[in-house]
This record gives sequence, C-alpha cells and structure tokens, in this order.
Amino acid sequence: MIYQVYPRSFRDFNGDGIGDLQGITAELDQVAELDIDALWLSPFFCSPQLDGGYDVSDYCDVDPIFGTLADFDDLISSATTRGLRIIIDLVPNHCSQEHRLFKRALAAQPGSAERELFIFRDGTGEAGVLPPNNWQSHFGGPAWTRIVEADGEPGQWYLHLFDSSQPDFNWDNRAVHEEFERILRFWLDRGVAGFRVDVAHALVKATGLPDWGGRADGGSTPGFPFTDAPMFGQPGIHDIYRRWRSILGEYDGERILCGEASVDPLTRLADWVREDQMHQTFNFSYLAAPWDPTELRRIVTASLEAFDSVGAPTTWVLSNHDVVRHTTRFGQGHTEPHRNGDGIGPDDHQPDHDRGLRRGIAASMFMVGLPGGVYLYQGEELGLPDHTQMPHHFRQDPAYHRTGGNRLGRDGCRVPLPWTTEGPSLGYSPNGQSWLPQPEGWAALSREAQQSDPQSVLSLYKKALSTRRQHGLGSGSLAWAENHSTDTCLAFVNNDILIILNMGDTEYLIPDLPVLVRSDMASTSSRMLAPEECIWLQVV
Ligand code: NOJ
Ligand code: CA
Repeated sequence: MIYQVYPRSFRDFNGDGIGDLQGITAELDQVAELDIDALWLSPFFCSPQLDGGYDVSDYCDVDPIFGTLADFDDLISSATTRGLRIIIDLVPNHCSQEHRLFKRALAAQPGSAERELFIFRDGTGEAGVLPPNNWQSHFGGPAWTRIVEADGEPGQWYLHLFDSSQPDFNWDNRAVHEEFERILRFWLDRGVAGFRVDVAHALVKATGLPDWGGRADGGSTPGFPFTDAPMFGQPGIHDIYRRWRSILGEYDGERILCGEASVDPLTRLADWVREDQMHQTFNFSYLAAPWDPTELRRIVTASLEAFDSVGAPTTWVLSNHDVVRHTTRFGQGHTEPHRNGDGIGPDDHQPDHDRGLRRGIAASMFMVGLPGGVYLYQGEELGLPDHTQMPHHFRQDPAYHRTGGNRLGRDGCRVPLPWTTEGPSLGYSPNGQSWLPQPEGWAALSREAQQSDPQSVLSLYKKALSTRRQHGLGSGSLAWAENHSTDTCLAFVNNDILIILNMGDTEYLIPDLPVLVRSDMASTSSRMLAPEECIWLQVV
C-alpha cells in the first residue's frame, strides 16, 4: 500500500504557501494511521518548477522551496521510526533547461559531446526553419524548439516530449546512463526505498526519429497503434531497467522500482515488470475503467492475468496528480474517462458531486479489497473532489498555457490539502498562504473534521486499510463470486472476504454474513446493498 504525496500541496511548514519536506515530516503520524507501507514523493529536487518539479535542474539536491538535504534525512529517519519507507520520483526522460548539462550543451558546438547528451538535430526546410520531424509535445505544440547558437544565429533544434523547458536526454549515449546510475546511488545511499520512474516507456527513441501521425501521448488511434510509436516502448529500454534492478540488488533491505509506463495493452505493460526489471508498474487501464461492471471485470481479469504471467504483483490506482480525481470523474454522468491533463473548469458542465463521492468511495473500497499493490493519492482518504471552479488566472500547468487554455490542465487535482476546520488555508499553511486556492466548503472535508466522525470517509479508509492488512488481502488472490455477480453487481472473494460492488440503480439482496466494511457508513440496512455501494462480508 503506497501513499502518494505531492509535496507542494501536502503541508506548508514555513508559511510561504508551498508545501515542504518539514511539512511532510510534521504530519507523518496522520499518514501512518492509514496503515500504509510507503510514501511516494513527487519531485522535490532543484527545479524552476515549470512543470511542478518534473523539470529537474539538480537531481542530487533539494529545491530550497521544499527544504534541504538535512530535512530529507530527517524525513527518512522519522518515517523509519514509524515503519514507513520513502520512495522518490526519478525523472530520467528529460531534465530542466536550467540543468548544468543542458546549459553546457547550448554553449557548445553542434556535434559536440555536450550536445550528444541531448537530442539536437538540424532543422528541415530552407535554412532549417522547420522542425526535424512532426512529433508533438504532450502539453501541446511541437516537440522541438530551435535555439540561438553562440554566434547569435538561429541554429539546431532540441527534442522535448513535454514542455520546451524539459529537454529530452539522449539514452543512446553511455554518458547519460552513467549520470543516472550515479543519481540512483546517491539516493539509495541516503536510504530511499526505491524510485517511481517518470515516463518509463519513453527514454529510448527509434533510430532516425521517424515521423509519427498518432497521438502525442502514444494512445492508440486508428492506423496508429501505440505499438508503432517511435518514441515509446522501444526494445532498448528494457536493458536500462535490468541494469537499475541489479544496482538496487546491491543494497540491503527491500528497494523497488515502479514504472510510470503508459503502455497498452496490459500484456505488453507486463514486459516492464519481468523479474529482472521493475518490481511494479502503474495500471492506467484500471484508472481509466468506466463505471461499468462488464468493463471493470474485464480489466481486473486482464490485469491479473498479465501481471501473473510474469510473476509481478498487479497494481491498482484511481487517482494521482495528473488526472481529475476519481470522486469527480464518477460524478460526470457519462462513461467517458477523463484524459490525462484535461481538467474541468468553471465554464464546463459541473459534475454531480454527491453521486461522484458515492461512486468514488464505493470504487475505492472495491480497489482496496483487490490482491496486489494499491496506490492512493493524498486527499483521496478525505474524499476530496477536484477543484472544478478554479478561476483560470490561478492555473500553472504548462498544458494550459501551451494550448492557449484549450486544455485546462491538472491544477484541479493539485489543490493544497485541508487539515483543520478553521483558518484561511484550513491548516495547510501557518499563515494562510496557498499556491492554489481551495474550493468553498472544504472545512467540512478537513482531516480535523473527519477524524472524530466515525462515519467519515477518513474513518472508512482507516477501517478498510486495517482490515485489508489483517486479512492479508494484498497477498491474497481473487476468485469471482459468480453467485453474486449480476448484470450490475461485481463480486469476488479474496481470502476470507466476499466483496460486492453494486454498480446498478436497484438494491441487491446480500447474504447473511457479518459485515466488515461498507462504503455507505451511515447505512442501516442489514440485507440490502444500495445502488453505488460496496460491501465487505466475512465468509465463515
Ligand atoms: C508524468 C508526470 O506524472 C507528470 O506530472 C509530468 O508532467 C510528466 N510525466 C513529465 O515529466
Ligand atoms: Ca513552504
């Protein structure tokens, strides 16, 4: 069970309006109460913060806005005392334009060793005014930017699959491998339990950088299957992870690699977690599953089969810092999942909050009952929705700015957490500062408000997570319970627990067994499972 912390929005200790490492250390007891194994921290390294820290200018230091290396050491030791491990985010596909190696590359000549660390090419067309190929950035616009050479003339172009401030490294160059092996060891020596690897499917690009008419994020479209994308899933990538796995093996204790690989189908994603490569990879097929029992069952079965075939634990996730929170997605009244990077704003049709929360919590309880690894995103234990009314002038996501506002971006799921019922930022910051505004009404969702309420979402998560551990569900196995599966209900047994999720709009008669957990904590019905409710029953 891994809990994702998005540091800038978790807790601001020093009052500058941005969450920091000391803030995380200060609240570790709150997180430990959730009975999790590890925290994964999104980037806190030196960065100009043009993509929320996924634009790293120094991989081996802490950005001053988040604190110092000494603060990180304190966090590790405080976490260890509580039996929690710390996983950090490694961003190997690209760095920041402010990274010393990129600055040196800009100052050097075309063809130099400095430039060979990145992907520089001459332009096409007359005088090289056109980009080297037609690749598009994930955040909109071309994936190439032209530089001005030392002589003041327009010169080569460099590749950036994301923002122009995030130049891609050239993983065909041994020197890049050596640089990252040094970075891995730096953090392993400091005691991290492993790495979440950012865009782990993109490092190696096809020779010759051929044109690609498909989607920038590689998602399959007619005529352009993901498997053909020249910037994703290239065979050479796997040797990199074999090497990293062997480096982790040199260290004591359990150290893991978890890949952020947007790869489909699931059978192919399993290649990332073969026994000599990563330990886990995110399951984005599961995250994108609509509120539909047939489709959900298909994805769960396919996930278990794919991961079992390589002996890796299947993982499950519903929310993270890149997608609309699932309590909001499920309130949208249609089955289309939200694409990465497309938020909801004040001009859009507003989701049904109550329905989203009800479905979202039921979906969470279904997920927490599954065997394998579960990833939670900070604030989902409070049932937080996205901020769907955020005024546009607050938006910081490069996806918003690079598309002229066509895509709203991911700020709506990155809003600072509410800790207390009072104060201008609800306890997030000691003086009320906050880098993004919190929506109206979040006092009632604050940790303080929920802590003492036995029927709160927080109390439900605590109960479910401790029951999951007591009954060994993480290392259990799934058997679909056909006698309780209907057109609208999904049911499975994991170890000694029967879990039923009612995705329909009529009640379902449940067997007369002791109730361990139910997503509607206020329910008084002993035999009927309400629509959009999930229940855990003790099989005797
Ligand atoms: C995936 C990260 O989760 C996202 O936040 C980031 O913008 C891109 N990778 C680029 O690093
Ligand atoms: Ca701060």
